[in-house]
Amino acid sequence: MRGRGKMQNRGILITGVAGFIGFHLAERLLREGCRVVGLDNLNAYYDPGLKEARLARLRAHDGFTFAKVDIAERDQIEAVFAAERCPVVVHLAAQAGVRYSLDHPLAYTRDNLVGFSHVLEGCRHHGCEHLLFASSSSVYGGNTKLPFSTQDSVDHPISFYAATKRANELMAHSYCHLYRFAVTGLRFFTVYGPLGRPDMALFLFADAIVKGRPIRLFNRGDMARDFTYIDDVVEAVTRLIDHPPQGVAPEAVGPPTGTAPFRIHNIGNSQPETILRIVTLLEKELGRKATTELAPPPRGDVLATFADIDDLAAAIDFRPTTSIESGVAKFAAWYRDYYGV
Ligand SMILES: NC(=O)c1ccc[n+]([C@@H]2O[C@H](COP(=O)([O-])OP(=O)(O)OC[C@H]3O[C@@H](n4cnc5c(N)ncnc54)[C@H](O)[C@@H]3O)[C@@H](O)[C@H]2O)c1
Repeated sequence: MRGRGKMQNRGILITGVAGFIGFHLAERLLREGCRVVGLDNLNAYYDPGLKEARLARLRAHDGFTFAKVDIAERDQIEAVFAAERCPVVVHLAAQAGVRYSLDHPLAYTRDNLVGFSHVLEGCRHHGCEHLLFASSSSVYGGNTKLPFSTQDSVDHPISFYAATKRANELMAHSYCHLYRFAVTGLRFFTVYGPLGRPDMALFLFADAIVKGRPIRLFNRGDMARDFTYIDDVVEAVTRLIDHPPQGVAPEAVGPPTGTAPFRIHNIGNSQPETILRIVTLLEKELGRKATTELAPPPRGDVLATFADIDDLAAAIDFRPTTSIESGVAKFAAWYRDYYGV
């Protein structure tokens, strides 16, 4: 194990541990022998049965402790932070999804802004040395320069979800500067894989194909996404845990950069795929043809995402390795097994 001895004993706190990414990260760390303290409120944004199924797998590990906690409830989250005092916190709990934010913005205010403030306070007061937290590729909003670089301006979010994720980056920077714990922001790009999220494209397409329902092709299918396989995401985050950013001496930085031990990374495959290609791959894996219907470009969603990951590769000597063919095959195999198709 790469230098996680201290953390292994004191534990790694993962919020949103019953979620898609949180579950996979926790399972990987537990297999490595870490102690994981997981929390989640198991909300019903999508099938809580899937969250319970993930938790059941985590509970098979001795090193796992779970607390059903709502991060928007200050007393609940404060109690866990105070009791555990974990040096590493990976914050993944959030109200996710661009489309849901069009009609339910207040869910994002609650979980992503109020809840995130409570996580920052927990880190500040209870011994956190390195906070890693989920941001999103959606912060790039209306940007047209591809690939998206962490050096690009991200001041024009086009969904409220993206606005809350960008706000998290700014809120975290202020805490990092003032209270001097290391912070790493993770801009995830369309993560997919087994036990994935039922509200995301790959899952929705598989469901539609299997149930004989038409797939809605937004913008005539002329959209591209940097689909990033879950194992690659977990590998990147696991390595980043061991690489907390260092502060920078004031004389070493220019005016637009702070001195705090703060850094943001794109976590993406850096190889965009069209939606039509994804549908074709799924048809092959599920052995059935899709029917499609055309839909206008979706409000709030960007037409293409594409991650520049040179900074990430320089920091942790890693680039995603899973091809889209192999990733979709693994997802489809899990889907068929889990749903008995
Ligand atoms: N999956 C992706 O492609 C993707 C892309 C960009 C960003 N992200 C971000 O990564 C993080 C993890 O995403 P995911 O795909 O695993 O989503 P997910 O919805 O599967 O997991 C989030 C978990 O957080 C929990 N949660 C939500 N609100 C909570 C609250 N108030 N208190 C406690 N728990 C709460 C949910 O019950 C869920 O289990 C999220 O912050 C998401 O916005 C994900």
